[in-house]
Amino acid sequence: MKFFTALSLVSLLPGLNAQAGLSTDPTVFGNVFNFWTKLSSGWDLTRGNKAGAITLPMPRNGPIIIQPNKTALVIIDMQNFFLHESVGGDPLGRAIVPTTVDLIHAFRDAGMPVLWTNWGLTEFDLMNMPPAFINGFTSKGTSTSSFGSDMGTIVVPKSDPSIPATSQTKVANMTIEVGRKLMRGSWNAQPWGALFTEQVQGVAKGTDFYFNKNRLSGMWGPGTPMQTWLQDNSMTTLFFGGVNIDQCVWGTLLDSYYKGYDVILLDDISATTSPLAATQMVDFNAGLNGWRANTTDIMAALKAAAKSK
Ligand SMILES: *[C@@H]1O[C@H](CO)[C@@H](O)[C@H](O)[C@H]1NC(C)=O
Ligand SMILES: *[C@@H]1O[C@H](CO)[C@@H](O)[C@H](O)[C@H]1NC(C)=O
Ligand SMILES: *[C@@H]1O[C@H](CO)[C@@H](O)[C@H](O)[C@H]1NC(C)=O
Repeated sequence: MKFFTALSLVSLLPGLNAQAGLSTDPTVFGNVFNFWTKLSSGWDLTRGNKAGAITLPMPRNGPIIIQPNKTALVIIDMQNFFLHESVGGDPLGRAIVPTTVDLIHAFRDAGMPVLWTNWGLTEFDLMNMPPAFINGFTSKGTSTSSFGSDMGTIVVPKSDPSIPATSQTKVANMTIEVGRKLMRGSWNAQPWGALFTEQVQGVAKGTDFYFNKNRLSGMWGPGTPMQTWLQDNSMTTLFFGGVNIDQCVWGTLLDSYYKGYDVILLDDISATTSPLAATQMVDFNAGLNGWRANTTDIMAALKAAAKSK
């Protein structure tokens, strides 16, 4: 626990007007606890801690200088329920998995945590679920085919459970219990394909952290498991990817923005089943709330940062 005196606050925030607690320097945006510094080109988001900082090019309004131990990659809802072909998952979501895995590795190598926030309901969550949500997740138009309902079984090749078995499947098959819809610990709530291995290994190694959520947003209301972790670890800057870009990704990004985090949307690790206009709305607004980029914009800088560590 660190106690700040008025004097140490002054030294932390350039041009601090001690009386108002705000800086008189027009390039400083925010207060002593949460501020950006505008540069002649781009922004310094390190809040005064430049040690080990990484400069990332951005397609617009960049570059940004980030502090790696205050920055995380947030992967949202890349779960079997939303992606696996056997349960009607989205091919566009599956298509971004290789790029997502590459970025996960780049974040870990540069010393930055990977946060997974996924639907993972409990009986308590079911009891408190609002009607609009139950309706939104029903498969047969009944409340009993929504959250928590048994999704039956599927058949997959034993060698690759991330794809459905077909008549062409020559190797042995296996039957998977899909589980109760989006319930914590069920197969359908697990990350899809290679992402499951990434998540399990990352969490075991301590580079990754896993947070259940019970709404579209992983940051809604007065607090969520992810928000508690972000506060405990003094995080400031969040990169987002996952599905759907206009629903759970957007919900989590927007709540994070409301709560004072820097938000960067990554286009090429996000996807949706919604019409194009939905993505266009998100892209437009994410660019106003923070930044939009592709992994291709930042990959080289992340790899250089990992090398110089
Ligand atoms: C973050 O990294 C900087 C530079 O390496 C270091 O000074 C600082 O103590 C670190 N903070 C935390 C919370 O690890
Ligand atoms: C695997 O399952 C599919 C679909 O049920 C079936 O058509 C195929 O013959 C099975 N393959 C084997 C080797 O059992
Ligand atoms: C990401 O790349 C795609 C395909 O090249 C492009 O359409 C999109 O505008 C890019 N996004 C950003 C934020 O540059």
